[in-house]
Amino acid sequence: MFTKDHIISIRDFSKEEVDYVLDRAEELEIYARGNESCNLLEGKVLANLFYEPSTRTRLSFEAAMVRLGGETINIYSQESSSVAKGENLADTIRTVAGYCDVIALRHPQEGASRMAAAFSSVPIINAGDGAGQHPTQTLLDLYTIRREGLLDGLKIALIGDLKYGRTVHSLAYALSLYGATLFFVSPSALKMPEEIKSDLKEMGAEIYEYTEVKEVIQEVKVLYVTRIQKERFPDPTEYSKVAGTYRITTDILKENEDVVVMHPLPRVNEIDVEVDKTKHARYFTQSFYGVPVRMAILSILLGK
Ligand code: CP
Repeated sequence: MFTKDHIISIRDFSKEEVDYVLDRAEELEIYARGNESCNLLEGKVLANLFYEPSTRTRLSFEAAMVRLGGETINIYSQESSSVAKGENLADTIRTVAGYCDVIALRHPQEGASRMAAAFSSVPIINAGDGAGQHPTQTLLDLYTIRREGLLDGLKIALIGDLKYGRTVHSLAYALSLYGATLFFVSPSALKMPEEIKSDLKEMGAEIYEYTEVKEVIQEVKVLYVTRIQKERFPDPTEYSKVAGTYRITTDILKENEDVVVMHPLPRVNEIDVEVDKTKHARYFTQSFYGVPVRMAILSILLGK
């Protein structure tokens, strides 16, 4: 059963609600692949309000809506909207809600989606709020892991920028619902925030911290690699100290023949392109799964 009006944070989800979304995504995957057509959301309109750059999230929401027979309207940047004239988010949301049935919002400010939900007469989906949450990415990450048959009791390494990376914050919470053991691998300046670790421990998660991938690779089934979030560093010199810290290569993968490599993308240079051709690579499959998962979310929120 699923009763949410908005999708704001993965922390608002119970395990049953996550399972409900993933089950629906599995049913809709055939339509996401374009093998059969579907008009479940015919006549419905999704507004994509993206105030930060995006390729996967925006386009997969758009593809999801189109695959379900619906339509989309878009704002691509702050500069191309009336935000550039000084309009506040509350007024934008109240206006756009009159043009559509559901809004996907990406915004640089943490908490923007929760605030938007307070002013919206249609469902708000958080498509990433600053260094905060990215719940639909988490749901597609979980879907990818479930399709590998690894969701329950997973041992996973979360690697890279654990301080600013919103995908790892959301994923760590969600995996805790499934009894995961979490291996955090990051430079000391980019460790998982203390408050998140403390919440995870309260949820019963087993947590370990390392600075090198080679210390954990034989222990885990999944390497979840992330980009260092250059745009969120207050001081560019601090970024230059940690840029390029981790790089997954075919050499290091020889340490674990079965490990699955995931990445929310975009990657910069954290995964060598040679890895793309190996049986380990799952990141492009993972980005495709954004379509069935977002189809599931749209259809559930719109009561179909
Ligand atoms: N994973 C993800 O959020 O990618 P985009 O920034 O391209 O949407």
